[in-house]
Amino acid sequence: MAKTKNFLCAACGASFSKWSGRCEACGEWNTISEDRGLSAGPPSKSLGASRGKPVTLTDLSTEETPPPRAASGLAELDRVLGGGLVPASAILVGGDPGIGKSTLLLQAAARFAQAGLKTVYVSGEEASAQVRMRARRLGLSEAPVKLAAETNLRDILTTLETERPQLAIIDSIQTMWADNVDSAPGSVSQVRAAAHELTTFAKRRGVSVILVGHVTKEGQIAGPRVVEHMVDTVLYFEGERGHQFRILRAVKNRFGPADEIGVFEMTGGGLAEVTNPSALFLSERGNPAPGSVVFAGIEGTRPVLVELQALVAPSPHSQPRRTVVGWDSGRLAMILAVLEARCGIPFAGLDVYLNVAGGMKISEPAADLAVAAALLSAREDAALPPETVIFGEISLSGALRPAPQTENRLKEAQKLGFTAAIAPAGGKTGSGGGLKLTRPSDLTGFVGETFGAG
Ligand code: TYD
Ligand code: MG
Repeated sequence: MAKTKNFLCAACGASFSKWSGRCEACGEWNTISEDRGLSAGPPSKSLGASRGKPVTLTDLSTEETPPPRAASGLAELDRVLGGGLVPASAILVGGDPGIGKSTLLLQAAARFAQAGLKTVYVSGEEASAQVRMRARRLGLSEAPVKLAAETNLRDILTTLETERPQLAIIDSIQTMWADNVDSAPGSVSQVRAAAHELTTFAKRRGVSVILVGHVTKEGQIAGPRVVEHMVDTVLYFEGERGHQFRILRAVKNRFGPADEIGVFEMTGGGLAEVTNPSALFLSERGNPAPGSVVFAGIEGTRPVLVELQALVAPSPHSQPRRTVVGWDSGRLAMILAVLEARCGIPFAGLDVYLNVAGGMKISEPAADLAVAAALLSAREDAALPPETVIFGEISLSGALRPAPQTENRLKEAQKLGFTAAIAPAGGKTGSGGGLKLTRPSDLTGFVGETFGAG
């Protein structure tokens, strides 16, 4: 009997019975290839045909003790993990090549090992000598980490089986090679099989595994999104090439809050923790200039102040430019449309540039009002009042909505020496602490109050 072939999309992991140039599920081109590894034809017999054994059912109220966690002592990492490493959990750390994943994980390995966890670091990308050299540069030579340079998954699993570490770091999942899968390392089938073997090993043997995954330029973990579904926690390590800040962001976490961030600074001696990110993000800020606004944001459980910069200039193009770094371009288009439709302030014929300083990425709708303020300030060439933070969500009607955790944002602003805040009325807070608080109820009111007649 001919075997049924199976085809997989590298971008979204959808499977098909025949090849095509474009994935019907996600619309990507040239991402479909044959999956030779797990030739999973339909099962010959229906599961209902033979009886299984009954499974014990429990109540929702059954007491569950929270998993004991191991802290690395790197507070920024522990917080992103949800309060430390959960035993037998599988974690994926994704990021661009060269962003600092190997450095971060070698530092984490050393910290966990020093904290008493038996730790194995497997490098499939570098020779042991190279990893040792990096360890020496980071001042970690003395850490009791066990090191291997290997890509053969069967050998790695056998080694882990005998060594029985509590933590195994695999750098990277794309270099792993499962000899029962008939395709090249880095292919979807290989990455999927390797991730599957390692995550099931983690559960079965009570070993925590951290998998490193390179991200393609489209921002996906190369090859399989499917790896994201297999692991408990997905972290992204991000930052701008030219900047020294690096942000570790939890995008999925079965054992803690998602959207939590850890902030690091790249130094010659490795990654240093940044315990007060607001101070770092604002450190490059000069005198108040038109187009510059400080947004009081919330990242995970922590308030973070960042500077937004806008530039608005007459456009030489028939189609004016809209360029955004660190924010959503669709959201920018919306703010421009609301300013035009509700406040009568046109941006037609003007190029608009918006930048989040420090290489930070913001996704909160609460940044709307700060963005609008930066755009208006740039357009009017008028600096905003100094030492003022701004936040609030703008709706299509031009109404302003209060942002969650207003109190926390105001507290952080005050801590960093700001004296005033502009934030929509509503929410639970009455006072602005020691800050002079302005509470516009709609965008037109805000424009009038802040920029005169607008
Ligand atoms: P590396 O950890 O190898 O990146 P990745 O594993 O994501 O590909 O780091 C890339 C380069 O940056 C490497 O040459 C070391 C350098 N680097 C520093 O000098 N200091 C740092 O704090 C970090 C994170 C990296
Ligand atoms: Mg690396």
